[in-house]
Amino acid sequence: MSAPNKSYDPVEVEALKPEQIERMRDEALAAFAAADSLDALHEAKVAHTGPASPLALANREIGALPPHAKADAGKRVGMARGAVNKALAARQSELEAERDARVLVEEAVDVTLPYDRVPAGARHPLTTMMERVADVFVSMGYEIAEGPEAEAEWFNFDALNIAPDHPARTMQDTFFVEGGKGEDSGVVLRTHTSPVQIRSLLDREPPVYVVCPGRVYRTDELDATHTPVFHQIELLAVDEGLTMADLKGTLDHMVQSLFGADMKTRLRPNYFPFTEPSAEMDMLCYVCKGTSVGDPDRPCRTCSSEGWIELGGCGMVNPRVLTACGVDPEKYSGFAFGFGIERMLMFRHNVEDMRDMVEGDVRFTRPFGMEI
Ligand code: PHE
Repeated sequence: MSAPNKSYDPVEVEALKPEQIERMRDEALAAFAAADSLDALHEAKVAHTGPASPLALANREIGALPPHAKADAGKRVGMARGAVNKALAARQSELEAERDARVLVEEAVDVTLPYDRVPAGARHPLTTMMERVADVFVSMGYEIAEGPEAEAEWFNFDALNIAPDHPARTMQDTFFVEGGKGEDSGVVLRTHTSPVQIRSLLDREPPVYVVCPGRVYRTDELDATHTPVFHQIELLAVDEGLTMADLKGTLDHMVQSLFGADMKTRLRPNYFPFTEPSAEMDMLCYVCKGTSVGDPDRPCRTCSSEGWIELGGCGMVNPRVLTACGVDPEKYSGFAFGFGIERMLMFRHNVEDMRDMVEGDVRFTRPFGMEI
């Protein structure tokens, strides 16, 4: 930079010549217009407005001019710089707007897309229901016992005092597993969970408190209310001094735990070879609590206005069963009950067709949720 000089003519200073200033301005404007990205614009900005840019250098030359020439040159450079900054700001916002529009498209999220392409499965409500019932007894100190589904006839029938000519033994109800030479193999698909009673008594010394959930088989056609494979839960208690009052109390506790504190059960006389006396057990309808009976204005879908819902069978363990298992019926007595889980799921959750439970369609299972 040269020192002030009275005879100094700014037009003669190369960098301050009007056409030079215009050229610098035009070059800057052209560079901004050509910048096609914010990064490119930044480079053009540094080159044309930064401290080393031609206009900044020209501006510095002004200081060296004689006072009378400074105003003119200053105005010229100032106007050029003004135009450059304005063009820069305009291009900057143009490119920013372009970027924003592009980002909106590129980073758009379609919130209607499935959030999970491999949807989690859901536990089958039969499993949940069975565990729920078993838990009632586990919390009372009962033990879970299991047995095979392909079961010896002796466990499924004989030990339970079901004579060879009992109707439950005929081909109509029982799936027989074929033996090696087409003869009776002595093996059946268990028709109920009661053989686990026998296995439990043979395995343990009384007192015995077991609950046996499991799959059972009968030769029924699959329809809205039957399935050849279904689930039962069985309970067996063998101890000194057990009576029917203990059975009744246990049943009441179960329905209260599952359906509410104001629930109860009732027993109706029945016959099972393995219990004596035997009863059919009903629970109060948990929806109408019996109020729909004889009241045509308030019909109840759950119990068909019967007031009671049939659950299953129960009774005091037949002494012959205890004897078959080596338990002294003079010293010990016991009670047992068993009922179907599918039926309970049907009335508890208004499932109208049993086929929904066996088809494995996750659309049936999912509404029951992932409860453990
Ligand atoms: N096992 C019987 C059935 O399948 C139910 C039952 C179990 C009855 C225990 C009495 C005692 O029908």
